Amino acid sequence: MNFDIDLSVKIAGITMKNPVMVASGTFGFGREYNDFYDINKLGALATKGLTLLPKQGNPPPRIHETPAGMLNSVGLENPGIQKFIQEEWPHLSKLTIPIIANIDGDTVEDYHKIAKKLSILANLAALEVNISCPNVEKGGLAFGQEPESAFEVIKAVREATKLPIIAKLSPNVTHIQTIAEAVVSAGADAISLINTLLGMAIDIHNQRPVFHRNFAGLSGPAVKPVALRMVWEVHEAVNVPIIGMGGITTWQDAVEFILAGASAVAVGTANFVNPMVPIEIIEGLKTYLYLKERKLQDLIGAAHDTVPGT
Ligand SMILES: Cc1cc2nc3c(=O)[nH]c(=O)nc-3n(C[C@H](O)[C@H](O)[C@H](O)COP(=O)(O)O)c2cc1C
Repeated sequence: MNFDIDLSVKIAGITMKNPVMVASGTFGFGREYNDFYDINKLGALATKGLTLLPKQGNPPPRIHETPAGMLNSVGLENPGIQKFIQEEWPHLSKLTIPIIANIDGDTVEDYHKIAKKLSILANLAALEVNISCPNVEKGGLAFGQEPESAFEVIKAVREATKLPIIAKLSPNVTHIQTIAEAVVSAGADAISLINTLLGMAIDIHNQRPVFHRNFAGLSGPAVKPVALRMVWEVHEAVNVPIIGMGGITTWQDAVEFILAGASAVAVGTANFVNPMVPIEIIEGLKTYLYLKERKLQDLIGAAHDTVPGT
């Protein structure tokens, strides 16, 4: 069925033709997925996390399957921004969808520098500032666990660029609302959450942790209830658009996140299981809105309404 349903959303000044994105680190720079479908059908694409210099990432194993999810310890392997600009940007910039560069740094100064360097790219839609990576020695998660350091990173990026800033938050905190308020007061235009939850696995044969860094990031359906709760909480705390992610596998999951307060959703781990998931979600959303006779805009945060269905 082809319903004439408007799925477009505007987030931090970025117009997306639908609210379904792909999550950083689960879609590379888009090349591999073009074999499955035209990736211009997506709402937007978030690149693999980029650092100033190339990063080799962590030694294997990097992935471990868990019931209803996976642990990863990739460690931000990426080509660095110079190679990104030379080798990946030419093909990314030809896409017709908004491209969001996910950035990471060891220091506040790193974030400032990388934001400045990427700001020269015409057509780059936004920066997603990862202050939540659990798999690196320095920076990453450490910045996202305290409101003061979260504020400092976003402020430094704000000073470096006019691009819209999406702050990517970590679920590994006690009060997500305090972190959300800090990044918004530092100049974030939108918030994405959640990154992965800290977890671990132990190999019972050699009686040692599976991962070299002991802990790794849990993602996939297992984290969805946690992610949904955090989107709900952040929606109540701040007034900027939210990109919800964490275990989204079906259109029904996406609808839950939107009702909790997400203006857009991102598909991560599910891409590894079924590359068609983002497309299936777009189609499912259309059918849902058609049958419910509702506009997408009216559904955002609607589960908070005191009178259901208003
Ligand atoms: C293998 C892997 C690599 C990831 N790399 C990044 C990254 O580079 N930057 C980032 O902000 N998030 C990264 N993430 C986190 C995802 O973007 C997403 O926030 C998280 O996995 C929750 O969504 P999901 O359960 O749908 O995967 C990565 C996740 C996975 C599974």
